Amino acid sequence: MNFDLEREPAGHAYKLLVGLVAPRPIALITSMDENGKLNAAPFSAYNYLCTDPPIIGVGVTNRPDQPFVPKDTARNIRRTGEFVVNVVTEDIAEKMNICATDFPPEISEVELAGFATAPSHAALECREYTTMEIGRSRIILGRVVAIYVENRYVDPTGPYVKADQLHAIGRMNGLGNYVRTRDAFMTIPRISYEEWKSGKR
Ligand SMILES: Cc1cc2nc3c(=O)[nH]c(=O)nc-3n(C[C@H](O)[C@H](O)[C@H](O)COP(=O)(O)O)c2cc1C
Repeated sequence: MNFDLEREPAGHAYKLLVGLVAPRPIALITSMDENGKLNAAPFSAYNYLCTDPPIIGVGVTNRPDQPFVPKDTARNIRRTGEFVVNVVTEDIAEKMNICATDFPPEISEVELAGFATAPSHAALECREYTTMEIGRSRIILGRVVAIYVENRYVDPTGPYVKADQLHAIGRMNGLGNYVRTRDAFMTIPRISYEEWKSGKR
């Protein structure tokens, strides 16, 4: 089927894109309001965009019930310029889901979900680089200024992340579907041009 998004009802672009751009990593973003109240929410319109400088991007739509009001995460980042991206692993999936409920700003999801405010297994500390307001969404670019990974998940020789042991989860489609990464490892070595020319690969 072909879908002309200029003609499709609003909402179809979301349904189609989340099915096709998948699996997606999930950023559980913690941010603070100007009074120091901690907020946490997951975002899967998320990826790193470049490494030199290290920049990640997150797409945050406005609140579903109030299309002109930013979600708490976007508002906090605009006001404080700081946030932390926590990697979502299998063991915190249920709590992450509680943080996705659209609570009013005065409620701290962190307390409701029972998260200790100790760090997750891995986290990226970010400073707002810029925020673009596009329609009823914001694209937030964050400069990663520090990375935390629990010792047991680091191979210091790289340093590499032992991603096969971290058990991060990804989002498939919308509607509460997720993938595990524990059995997703498959190795396809890169081919150098020299190897390609010599016909060895
Ligand atoms: C796995 C997952 C991924 C999500 N990804 C996004 C996203 O990329 N952009 C977005 O605006 N909302 C996304 N949401 C919804 C937000 O998490 C939700 O609106 C949340 O309540 C926002 O909280 P806040 O107002 O505290 O920022 C996602 C929800 C889940 C469960």
